[in-house]
Amino acid sequence: MLHFPELNRSKCKTYLVACERTRKALLIDPVKDNISRYLAFLGYHQLKLDAIVDTHTHADHPTGSFHLRDLAQTRLIMHRRAPVPAVDEHVEHGDCITIGDIALQVLYTPGHTPDSISLYAGDRVFTGDVLLIGGTGRADFAGGDAGQQYDSITQKLFGLPEETLVFPAHDYRGNTCSTIGQEKKQNPRIAGRTREQYVALMASLNFPMPEKIQEVLQPNQSAIDDDKTKFPDLTELNRVRQLTAEEVSAMTASTNPPLLLDVREPGEYNGELGHICGSLLIPLRELAGRAAELGAHRERVIVAVCRSGVRSTTAAAILSGLGFERVYNLKDGMVDWNDRRFPVER
Ligand SMILES: [Fe+2]
Repeated sequence: MLHFPELNRSKCKTYLVACERTRKALLIDPVKDNISRYLAFLGYHQLKLDAIVDTHTHADHPTGSFHLRDLAQTRLIMHRRAPVPAVDEHVEHGDCITIGDIALQVLYTPGHTPDSISLYAGDRVFTGDVLLIGGTGRADFAGGDAGQQYDSITQKLFGLPEETLVFPAHDYRGNTCSTIGQEKKQNPRIAGRTREQYVALMASLNFPMPEKIQEVLQPNQSAIDDDKTKFPDLTELNRVRQLTAEEVSAMTASTNPPLLLDVREPGEYNGELGHICGSLLIPLRELAGRAAELGAHRERVIVAVCRSGVRSTTAAAILSGLGFERVYNLKDGMVDWNDRRFPVER
C-alpha cells in the first residue's frame, strides 16, 4: 500500500492511499477548497481515483466529495447512516473496501456523529474525528453522543494492536501520527476515565459552535448547494419535534393518519430502503418552491421522512417557518424504519 503524506497540510486532514500495482487510489475526507490539488497530485503520481470515503458528515468544512466524485467519475463510500443522497456505496461495520490489491476494513465508530467510521488497514487506522491525537472529536451536536464515542474508542479502536498507527481527520497541534498504544496510555480525554467520567467531561467542555456550521453542515448533509434553498438555523432545527418509528407506525394505523412527506430523491424513494405506503414525495431541494401543494394539508399532522432523519428535520423546520404548525420528523428515517421491519413499498 502506498500512503502519501497528508495532502492539506492544515488542521483538517485528507489522506491518499493507493495500490502500488494497479495505481488505484482512495481519497479519505477531501475538502472542497483543495479539489484541484488532489487532481493534480493524482495525475503527477499516475494514480486513478477508484473511490472516495467521507469518514463522517463534516460540520466544519464543505466536503470535496460530491464535486470530486463527479469530476473523476468515481464512487463515494459512506456509512449507511450517512444522511446525504450523493453516496454510491453504503458500508457497515465489518465491510471491506477494496482498492486494487489493498483492503481496508470498516469499523463503525459512532459518537462524534451517528455515521462515523474508521478504516483499518493492517498496520494503520484512519479514525476520522472519533479519536484524535491526544483528544477526541466533539460529540455535542449533529447527533453526537459522548457515551457512544467512549464505547467506539475503548471497545473497537483500543482493541487494535498497540503498534497500529493512528491517522485522525483533524489535528490542532501540529501532530501527524500516533499509535493506539500511545492514545490508550496518554490520551488526556480518555485514558483512565470511566464511561460516566468521560460523558461528564465532554458535557463540561462548552465549545462554541463551528464558525461556518450554517454554511457547511446542511449542504454536507443534503448535497444541496444552491441559492434557492434557504436552510433553517440550528435553533429552528432543534425545535423540530421528533417521533420514533414505533410512534409513526402507530399513527399511520390510526383513524386519523398523518400526511407522510418523503423528502428524498426519486431514486431513493424507489430504492433499496423503499418508502412508506401512501407517502408523498417532494424532494428537499424542491420543497420551498412546492410548499403550496401542501396547502390543503395545513391543518393535518405532517411527518417528514428521509433516509436517516436529518434532511427531513431540515424539511420540517422549513415547513414550520412557512406556517405549518403540526409538523414532526421521523427520527432516524427509513434506515431505522427498515431496521425495525416496518412495511415498505418499492
Ligand atoms: Fe468532524
